[in-house]
Amino acid sequence: MMAAMPSLRTFPEGFLWGSATSSHQVEGGNQGNDWWAWEAAPGHIHDGTRSGDACDWWRGRAEEDLSLAAEYGQNAHRLGLEWSRLEPEPGRFDEAAFDRYRAILAHAHKLGLRSLVTLYHFSLPTWAAAQGWTAPSLAPAFARFAEACAQRLSPLVDLWATINEPLVLAFMAYFGRQWPPGLGSTLAFARAVRQLLRGHVAARAAVHRVQPDAQVGIVLNLPAFDAANPRDPRDRAVCKLQETVFNEAFLRALDGRYDFLGLNYYGRYQVAFDLSLVGRMFGRHVQTPTVSTPNTDWGQISPEGLTRQLLRVQRLGRPIYVTENGVYDNHDRVRPGYLRDHVRAVHDAIRAGADVRGYFHWSLVDNFEWAEGWAAHFGLFAVDRATQTRTPKDSARIYAEICRANAIACP
Ligand code: BGC
Repeated sequence: MMAAMPSLRTFPEGFLWGSATSSHQVEGGNQGNDWWAWEAAPGHIHDGTRSGDACDWWRGRAEEDLSLAAEYGQNAHRLGLEWSRLEPEPGRFDEAAFDRYRAILAHAHKLGLRSLVTLYHFSLPTWAAAQGWTAPSLAPAFARFAEACAQRLSPLVDLWATINEPLVLAFMAYFGRQWPPGLGSTLAFARAVRQLLRGHVAARAAVHRVQPDAQVGIVLNLPAFDAANPRDPRDRAVCKLQETVFNEAFLRALDGRYDFLGLNYYGRYQVAFDLSLVGRMFGRHVQTPTVSTPNTDWGQISPEGLTRQLLRVQRLGRPIYVTENGVYDNHDRVRPGYLRDHVRAVHDAIRAGADVRGYFHWSLVDNFEWAEGWAAHFGLFAVDRATQTRTPKDSARIYAEICRANAIACP
């Protein structure tokens, strides 16, 4: 008997294959932002590390890493701009810092990498840090910053994203105390969500003023939620509540004011009713197995959940990019399968009608993982922090095959 031939599933022409990074996680030396000070306080970073030189992008390694991305078949990269570098004091822009980003983006362009540029990815200039996004003055300040970026960098940017994961930020930094400013209140959460929404709308308008045909989107983390016991109405109710607060409400409030939607997806949560968890909307996450550290739970691996979320946002009628997808796996054992399965899941969604135009793996290189410090690795390339040497993981090679073929084999 002959073994069945694997079939090849091809992606639409021009599909973007990339990886994603953010400014604070890779640049190094970001002394002017809120994270720099936050990291210095004991207990904030679970493994006691600091971002420090990070992956040394600012001093020159951005170019090397982007060259690696291109060499390994990628045709796009998502990176972040560091607001604290570009506007070190309110209203004063640092032209030398803009030159540095211009050089990085020009290098990407020369390599044939399309760029998706995030204006704000969790780190605020120190001058805005105390009240953070609860301050009503931050949204107009963010718009002014967005306009300055568009004026100087537009020719080198293919896609703009205003804000990364507003709801994750609001939960971690305003409802909770895990990230700066760590306000820990429901009121701060509500205020921050409102200002993040205003900030997105104002920044998008500002970029459009400079470049009317710019594609300006927003990046949302949309995990899949399922009731732990689908027959239990209480599980179903808390699941629906979490889904509404985390995934639905912000999307609804955006009311179509985005040119594309960036979707970040890591996994799915199974939610069980628990009356004692007031701060968690009475829902306990009980999925097993799950990808987690003692402090962070990225959920259960579920490629099907990605297909589901893509099809759900498809109804909103805008192009979609998977702006992040990846797994915490320090030994690259799980990542190869995770990567293949999720790329297939994207293809499933496209086949079912979703207008998905690109996939950005999180991340290109192991980097500073916020409150987890350097302990949680997500990169396609390992980074030796003492020497800054890069080593490709199997995943980098597997992803390169997919990118080059613009297709994935299905068993
Ligand atoms: C964030 C990244 C982060 C990744 C892995 C996303 O929520 O945008 O900055 O490193 O998840 O936790």
